Amino acid sequence: MKKTRLVSLPNLKEAAKRNPEEKSLVEKVDSKPTSFLVSWGQGKTFCIRTYGCQANVRDSEILRGYLLALGMKEQEEFLGADLILFNTCAIRENAENHLYGELGRAKEAYEKNPETIIGVCGCVMQEEFAVKYILHHFPFVSLIFGTNNLTNFYSLLDDCLEHNENIVDVRSNSDLVPEGLPEGSQARESKVTAFVNIMYGCNKFCTYCIVPFTRGRERSRKAEDILAEVNCLKEQGYKQVTLLGQNVDAYGKDFGDDYAFASLLEKVAQTGIERVRFVTPYPSDFRVEVFDVMAKYKNIMPFLHLPIQSGSNSVLKRMNRRYTREQYLEIVHQLRERLPDVFLSTDIIVGFPNETDEEFEETLSLVREVRYDAAYTFIFSPRPGTPAYFMKDKTPMEVKHKRFDALKALIDEQATTRANEFVGKDVEVLFEKVSEKDPSRISGYDPHNKLVHVKGDASLIGQIRKVHITESHTYSLLGELMDED
Ligand code: 5AD
Ligand code: SF4
Repeated sequence: MKKTRLVSLPNLKEAAKRNPEEKSLVEKVDSKPTSFLVSWGQGKTFCIRTYGCQANVRDSEILRGYLLALGMKEQEEFLGADLILFNTCAIRENAENHLYGELGRAKEAYEKNPETIIGVCGCVMQEEFAVKYILHHFPFVSLIFGTNNLTNFYSLLDDCLEHNENIVDVRSNSDLVPEGLPEGSQARESKVTAFVNIMYGCNKFCTYCIVPFTRGRERSRKAEDILAEVNCLKEQGYKQVTLLGQNVDAYGKDFGDDYAFASLLEKVAQTGIERVRFVTPYPSDFRVEVFDVMAKYKNIMPFLHLPIQSGSNSVLKRMNRRYTREQYLEIVHQLRERLPDVFLSTDIIVGFPNETDEEFEETLSLVREVRYDAAYTFIFSPRPGTPAYFMKDKTPMEVKHKRFDALKALIDEQATTRANEFVGKDVEVLFEKVSEKDPSRISGYDPHNKLVHVKGDASLIGQIRKVHITESHTYSLLGELMDED
């Protein structure tokens, strides 16, 4: 068995101890590989498994960029690959358990070929107990690194290969904003739509959430770096950018500018890229200036994902969400006043510790009042290290499941009604990919983020075309391609 070198271990407590006043530092990354790595990589294969949110998808694209630059080829299946990376998500327990199942399978790959480099990175690796668990149960894992280590990936891989060691390097606390990470459209998942990080981290500390611990302090990229990336994507033919941040309306607060997100959004719209989206706003930080910019520019899509989490003020308080139900409804009202056509989706957690029937009813009534077009619902999952993990919870699991089903039924019913309203209408669809279920169909999204399928072939990918909607399902629409004017 190889020797393990512990460069740095994560520490959740350390990650929480941070000074939000500190200025972030731009870290210029040298993403040129050493000649040793290039000669190692030639002709070799890799496989990346990505779990979790868009931030992880984007991180995996960066890792893919590093590996492609070594001359490596990507493969879908991890058995038989020379390098396997698991980019993990810690948000709920089941994502973590799934990882351990996959690592069990990866053991097979290692036993067939002990030269295989198996790496685990991402949010789960920011938890010290998870790192220890992997070191103990999966000793064949050669690389363990965290969300703040994308900048030194080459040197980790280099050390691991040259010295034939297992490496653990997980930075807990980062003030760094990396620039110069590997680019190139080959590394991105799509040739049509692209994620662009505008900020990293989260300072909110909702009591259920592990993200402020795993992704560090809020820190923003400079507007000029973001705009350069958007312009470059536009030149490469990308049709849509989605600006990414755990809490986008906090963009620029670390520069001391509370209005920076509205102004950044406007500048991104002014690049003239066909479609602009953003995720995720935090309700009480939202400024009406952002809605005004959304209303002013046709290329900012009329869609907003605005997480509520619960419709009950007492639960919101226990969650440390910094708004009330009334304030949230007022934000929705202001938004709809400026953008009557906007579509809304949300995130809701059911079964937060000791949620009562009355509190749950308040969530149902809020959902009825807002009439969401879609909602992502989750049963509370206790995450070690977060305050809610330590809350004594008397609500039986069976009750939580019943509530979850009731909420899901209401949301599906609303989404079905809203989707029905599309039938007979013409919408503009940006086609992204051939449908997985039916290869004679091609799929894309309308401005309201509605999934639309039409009969067609791959030549439509990247085009924005008018579609006449003929049929609706809860979360998708069917239509016919209209002739171009
Ligand atoms: N349990 C259940 N759901 C959670 N989320 C975040 N943390 C938890 C947790 N511990 C949900 C929230 C968040 C979404 C990304 O995941 O709704 O908005
Ligand atoms: Fe994304 Fe949060 Fe999961 Fe990390 S823990 S991958 S930030 S959802």
